[in-house]
Amino acid sequence: MSMAVYFLVVLHGRKRRHKDELKVHLEDEQELRERTPSFMGIELDMSVEYSYDELARGTNNFSMENKIGSGGFGVVFYAELRGEKTAIKKMDVQSAREFIAEFNVLTRVYHVNLVRLIGFCIKGHLFLIYEFIQNGNLSEHLRRTKRPPLSWASRVQIALDSARGLEYIHEHTVPVYVHRDVKSPNILIDMNFHAKVADFGLAKLTDVGGIASRTRLVGTFGYMPPEYAQYGDVSSKVDVYAFGVVLYELISAKKAIFKTGPLGTETLGLVGLFEGILNQPEPIEELRKVIDPRLGDNYPTDDIFKLAMLGKACTQENPESRPNMRSVVVSLIMLSLSSSKWDARLIDEDKTLVKLMSGRR
Ligand SMILES: Nc1ncnc2c1ncn2[C@@H]1O[C@H](COP(=O)(O)OP(=O)(O)O)[C@@H](O)[C@H]1O
Ligand SMILES: [Mg+2]
Repeated sequence: MSMAVYFLVVLHGRKRRHKDELKVHLEDEQELRERTPSFMGIELDMSVEYSYDELARGTNNFSMENKIGSGGFGVVFYAELRGEKTAIKKMDVQSAREFIAEFNVLTRVYHVNLVRLIGFCIKGHLFLIYEFIQNGNLSEHLRRTKRPPLSWASRVQIALDSARGLEYIHEHTVPVYVHRDVKSPNILIDMNFHAKVADFGLAKLTDVGGIASRTRLVGTFGYMPPEYAQYGDVSSKVDVYAFGVVLYELISAKKAIFKTGPLGTETLGLVGLFEGILNQPEPIEELRKVIDPRLGDNYPTDDIFKLAMLGKACTQENPESRPNMRSVVVSLIMLSLSSSKWDARLIDEDKTLVKLMSGRR
């Protein structure tokens, strides 16, 4: 199958510091395979390249039993490859441009709160091989009733973990990156209920303050701040805003955009909903009404209020008024300390109750 593929790659590589657009016309995937390592201007370690046969064997010929999900870029399969549990993302060929960005970023970025890209394969399609994260994504945990509800303490932990992942790409890599598709399906949960941020497919190697006008808008409705949706302005504050929406999701378990009103025909976003609540004279009373019912009474109201206020700060209309991820991490560390104290108090109360009920004092 000979397929013409156009790549429009924005390079910000080490060797080419200035912004430059490179249009590469690739005749077929063989050529793509040969040229990918060099035209990115970086040397790729070929041990990260997997053969199609390996992937086909690992996924039982891409059988439906091995399928674990699907999204905007293609289908995701489970496979054990070279002794490691992996998630293989089979990309639509049209997504090839995003693939290059994702690949370039993820192979060079390592952090415990970021999903690691292990390797790739190019054969008809583009395949990205990630470490497999055992326990599903945050969206499922919040909204699939099959899953047991997340405790308050694990919600705060998940927020802190994802904030650390984002802080890392915003502040500690050279150049810094903006994720641009922060959302609950892109926050994966491991067996210990720690979180890792997935999907740098949409990340562009963006200089802070850069403008995305030359590229199309990428992201998800309900998570995009006004300056990005309207003018395509990209900065790390785009991720801060989306992260604020995730905080609202953790509190309410509602989707970023949902139907409401007496007939269920009105559309409302979490940002609008929480703004309405937090601007009330008695916000805590109003807030209680939207707290995820699956939390029962097992939450410290003060801490929920603090998390909601953090969500509000992150989703300010003016990007400059939003905190950066570093201060978000600091706030969440404080909150996580008080939440674990609160958890410990619960356990103490349980013990007291057990003692009382068993007649001991
Ligand atoms: N590394 C991974 N480990 C485990 N599951 C994954 C991994 N990557 C993706 N998934 C699952 O596959 C789903 C689809 O992924 P994706 O194509 O990125 O779409 P989206 O992010 O829009 O959900 C994810 O929501 C997640 O549940
Ligand atoms: Mg994803």
